[in-house]
Amino acid sequence: MSTITFRTAPRIISRIGGLADLGTIMAELGVRRPLIVTDPGIVKCGIAAKATASLKSAGLDPILYDSVQADPPIAMVKEAAAFARGNQADGIVGLGGGSSLDTAKVVALMGKCTQPIENLFGIDMTRDPRLPLVQVPTTAGTGSEVTWVSVITNDANEKKVIYTPQLLPDVALLDAELTVGMPPKVTAATALDAMVHAIEGYTSRTKKNTIADSFARKALELLVTNLPKVLADGQNLAARAAMLEGAMLGGIAFVNSSVAAIHGLAYPLGARFHVPHGHSNALVMGPVLRFNLVAAEKLYAELAPCVLPGRSFASSAEAALTFVETLEAMAGAGGLETRLSDLGITDADIAPMAEEVVTQIQRLIAPNPRDMSFDDVCALYRAIL
Ligand SMILES: NC(=O)c1ccc[n+]([C@@H]2O[C@H](COP(=O)([O-])OP(=O)(O)OC[C@H]3O[C@@H](n4cnc5c(N)ncnc54)[C@H](O)[C@@H]3O)[C@@H](O)[C@H]2O)c1
Ligand SMILES: [Fe+2]
Repeated sequence: MSTITFRTAPRIISRIGGLADLGTIMAELGVRRPLIVTDPGIVKCGIAAKATASLKSAGLDPILYDSVQADPPIAMVKEAAAFARGNQADGIVGLGGGSSLDTAKVVALMGKCTQPIENLFGIDMTRDPRLPLVQVPTTAGTGSEVTWVSVITNDANEKKVIYTPQLLPDVALLDAELTVGMPPKVTAATALDAMVHAIEGYTSRTKKNTIADSFARKALELLVTNLPKVLADGQNLAARAAMLEGAMLGGIAFVNSSVAAIHGLAYPLGARFHVPHGHSNALVMGPVLRFNLVAAEKLYAELAPCVLPGRSFASSAEAALTFVETLEAMAGAGGLETRLSDLGITDADIAPMAEEVVTQIQRLIAPNPRDMSFDDVCALYRAIL
């Protein structure tokens, strides 16, 4: 029997309009001077001002760090942590997509931890406590609000991960109203990332387990059935709430299991070419699912009813193939480019990326349902060139 260790945030609140409760929640955690960690886009669309207003109305004295960059570079994370210390922040609010939430985690940790951030890359490299932390996602999404991992880009443009349970927040606050302003491309890319979390968590060769499985199935159902609704009408709050909850469940699924080769092939696209994380996953998802089909037929067949509720299938093979085709058809959702050449990536870039995948990112290939060689990875990239 395999051992299962399951962790998640101690408190998850999902309420449309719930951002108004942020101040009360921070006050309950004993915070007086909260720092909001966010990016310029979130300031521009007025969400940061709403968060600040809620904190002020609870009698708190908030400050704002609004320079988060996508795929958080380590220098920026250090700057944010120094800003928190310099302004005596005693609690952190992560507000935004995965980039803001991942930055907020490290800022909260660095409020109590004296080691350099570089020393924390890896698994359980510190047991130091952190400052109180509330995570408020505005994409649906990475699920970062319920994961104990933070993905940081180092100075060599490699994605490094800090895994430690203290990165789980005290509260994950889900307010679907915050996601209605997402442009269609961001909506689609972040949703596809969340779907991939569920699929890779469910099919992990090394970490699959019954607890993560149940979250993965529900995540996939919510995400796949509601994405067309939010793309047709971005103001559909019920569907937006279902997406946000689906993404959160996907986060719980993958962090308690693992991600695999789709994330593995996506990483170099983000680190080298700044393709957004969700879009990178969307690009490689179809070819990798089709490549995996021979090894993962049974598991993909089990997931088919989640993406096509009520549909019956003549055989496991038909169900698995229909599952892959359904996901493939979503790769261009919201107007996402589906070819690497659309993004300025050329054939000459493929071998170096594949080399990185089978060496530095091997940890994401090991859980994949099917082994992948350097030549396999090259062929998968070429299929979408
Ligand atoms: N820690 C984890 O568990 C985990 C999991 C998956 C991905 N990640 C990381 O998360 C990052 C990607 O996060 P992301 O995909 O959420 O995107 P993001 O945080 O990089 O944001 C992308 C863009 O979307 C904008 N945006 C976000 N919400 C918006 C809204 N409601 N309205 C309008 N614009 C909005 C932002 O301003 C930004 O310009 C990557 O760095 C990735 O490595 C972390
Ligand atoms: Fe992801």
